[in-house]
Amino acid sequence: MANIQSLRGMNDILGDDSKLFTYFVENASRIAKNYGFTYLETPILEETALFKRSVGESSDIVNKEMYQFIDKGENDVCLRPEGTAGVVRSFVENKFDRAGGTYRWFYYGPMFRYERPQKGRLRQFHQFGAEVFGQASVYEDATIIMMLKDILDFFEIKFKLQLNSLGCPTCMPPYRENLVKYLTNIKENLCEDCNKRIETNPIRVLDCKNENCQKLLYNAPKITNNLCEKCDSDFISLKDVLDYNNIEYVVDTNLVRGLDYYSQTAFEFTSSEIGSQSAIAGGGRYDRLVEFLGGRATPGIGFAIGIERLLELIKTKEEDKDTIYLGAMTDEALNLLTKIASKKRKNSITIMEYTPRSFGKHFKIAQKQDASIVALIGENELKNGTIFVKNIKTQEEKTIKIEDF
Ligand code: HAM
Repeated sequence: MANIQSLRGMNDILGDDSKLFTYFVENASRIAKNYGFTYLETPILEETALFKRSVGESSDIVNKEMYQFIDKGENDVCLRPEGTAGVVRSFVENKFDRAGGTYRWFYYGPMFRYERPQKGRLRQFHQFGAEVFGQASVYEDATIIMMLKDILDFFEIKFKLQLNSLGCPTCMPPYRENLVKYLTNIKENLCEDCNKRIETNPIRVLDCKNENCQKLLYNAPKITNNLCEKCDSDFISLKDVLDYNNIEYVVDTNLVRGLDYYSQTAFEFTSSEIGSQSAIAGGGRYDRLVEFLGGRATPGIGFAIGIERLLELIKTKEEDKDTIYLGAMTDEALNLLTKIASKKRKNSITIMEYTPRSFGKHFKIAQKQDASIVALIGENELKNGTIFVKNIKTQEEKTIKIEDF
């Protein structure tokens, strides 16, 4: 019988990867907490309608990439393709929109998109995300970007920040109309995808990956030249705060993002060191989403980092903590070892071998388990209340009183 393998584009996280994964999540969480965020967890499975209404019916994610099925109770459900929709659903369901005030949450976990797997593109991947509700100030936009930068800086990751404003319900519709006029004129020369999008989601034409389309779009009207007064002054203020904090960015008027819920600020962090799937994080403002999902109008903004893409780039490593290996040469010492292990585990990584073995055998096992300190109790040690301790790194060895260990 053939062995069962994991599904295409879905990986186990183990060994060095898992160490890096927890190292990332722990430190990103710490930084988020310093910015006043608390942890939130929403279900991985949600009603399909949630994503249709938020991410958007015309987006690739909803159209082609959802793991959607009918469950045993005839409910149309879907493995979440991203985190924001569930967080907004939870925000409204728990009536925070009615309570008013500011809410800052972070989360991490698996997301699912039925994409064509390639380097940096998985079907099950993990995001670390953050969402803020109740803050319309551009200072929040700046703060979100600074928090993301702090996380990337902590791991010594080089990045580029692309920034755009997608306007609001006042300035986006007339701009879209203008754009459609321009696109209709060059229609014959645009690719098939773009032609479909002129009808369904013309803004998405702007980030078509086809080089020929990009050349033809060179003279297309730019959203940043068509913003209403409020969006324009907000965008200028945001750039000012970023400049003031020495955060480098480029304005990319073709940055439209693949999800339909954004308005005003949109941004993406990219790296040139991980191949074609270069986006390591993305986000923006979604001031209308709470209302779309049935809540009271509340501004929102957030981001998500693609954890797998980021792990490729992490330069600083967690310093390996010493692992203590405890072993006995005689059955009588085992109980005592459980007590020592429990004490040591308050501050150090400690593993215990349950079978009494010879001195040499213990060292072999300890080395296999990457232990750096081997502590053994034989008959003599047991009699004298001592323990033999060897530091494998320095080769230093000594027999000491158990209470001094
Ligand atoms: P997104 O840009 O679709 O935004 O995804 C965020 C990040 O997830 C990407 O920059 C990328 O690093 C990673 N990612 C996306 N798809 C894959 C994949 N197939 N394989 C590996 N990594 C992937 C969102 O999901 C929004 N919810 C972000 C947000 C939060 N906006 C506001 N709040």
